Amino acid sequence: MIKRILITGGAGFLGSHLCDRLVEQGQDVICVDNFFTSQKSNIAHLLDWPNFELIRHDITHPLFLEVDEIYNLACPAAPGHYQYNPIKTTKTSVMGAINVLGLAKRVNAKLFHSSTSEVYGDPDVHPQPESYRGNVNCIGPRACYDEGKRAAETLMFDYRRQNHVNIRVVRIFNTYGPRMHPFDGRVVSNFIRQALRGDNITIYGDGKQTRSFCFVDDLIDGFIKMMDAPDDFPGPVNLGNPGEFSILELAELVLELTGSSSKIVQSKELPEDDPLQRQPDITLAREKLDWEPKIPLREGLAETVKWFQGVDLSSFRAPTPNY
Ligand SMILES: NC(=O)c1ccc[n+]([C@@H]2O[C@H](COP(=O)([O-])OP(=O)(O)OC[C@H]3O[C@@H](n4cnc5c(N)ncnc54)[C@H](O)[C@@H]3O)[C@@H](O)[C@H]2O)c1
Repeated sequence: MIKRILITGGAGFLGSHLCDRLVEQGQDVICVDNFFTSQKSNIAHLLDWPNFELIRHDITHPLFLEVDEIYNLACPAAPGHYQYNPIKTTKTSVMGAINVLGLAKRVNAKLFHSSTSEVYGDPDVHPQPESYRGNVNCIGPRACYDEGKRAAETLMFDYRRQNHVNIRVVRIFNTYGPRMHPFDGRVVSNFIRQALRGDNITIYGDGKQTRSFCFVDDLIDGFIKMMDAPDDFPGPVNLGNPGEFSILELAELVLELTGSSSKIVQSKELPEDDPLQRQPDITLAREKLDWEPKIPLREGLAETVKWFQGVDLSSFRAPTPNY
């Protein structure tokens, strides 16, 4: 049966790939976005499909639609984006969650919520299982995002307990791929842009800090598996790639794949509260969803580099000055 599916933040990096997947499945997809950190080019190719609809709307305001499923993705996700207007970031997380929860309750829709590994803060447990309660600085510059996302999770589980809303919460770890915002200030996009322009590749600190990188196609598989999982598994469940790479290793791989002669320079201090290590424990996702990432970093990066080479960077509006 065709489902009516709302995707908030559907024009963003992850949202646009999810729209692609669900439109191709033949579902009736409604994409809601205020285009704070995205552009229409991400979903322009879907506008002529009869089963795709675009609504410009800010999810801090309630919305009234008849839908069967909701994927709540709307929220600026990169530090440079969410720190630009931190109060708005908290509002988007918290009021956005209240609004989609209210909608899910009214129309009895299943609600998938995209949380983040940032709920673990600067972790003192490594890798992080879902049972780890986190180490977040609630008054630091990242708190608007971390605490906003933590409060949104709280709301999800309270609506489940109190109002029996059918929720699914995923904690997403660092994901990359085509359509990530070229000026999001994140390490993958920074390095690829710098390498393609022949600029120095700048590394914060000594480059030994590690990250795990999940390719977007793997993550979207996980989203759909979680939405289709039994109702007695609301999560939270980690989705990410446990493969751990140092920032220096990533820079070297980007140089190799772009064939760039850029130099790697260690010029900047680590940003405040930037975690030194971040790696998902995906035991639960393996067990409950039979999910694990399949695409190796080299392959996913090659595809991402190809996308960066094919877009006109001057057509992207940098949403914030912080890149
Ligand atoms: N990409 C990652 O590595 C990652 C990691 C952890 C969590 N997440 C979560 O996944 C979701 C999607 O992230 P993304 O990487 O696609 O980021 P993104 O910035 O590309 O997408 C977010 C989308 O939400 C929209 N948006 C922001 N505020 C809004 C508002 N008030 N009303 C309506 N739309 C709004 C933006 O315009 C954008 O299209 C976010 O909730 C993010 O927190 C992503």
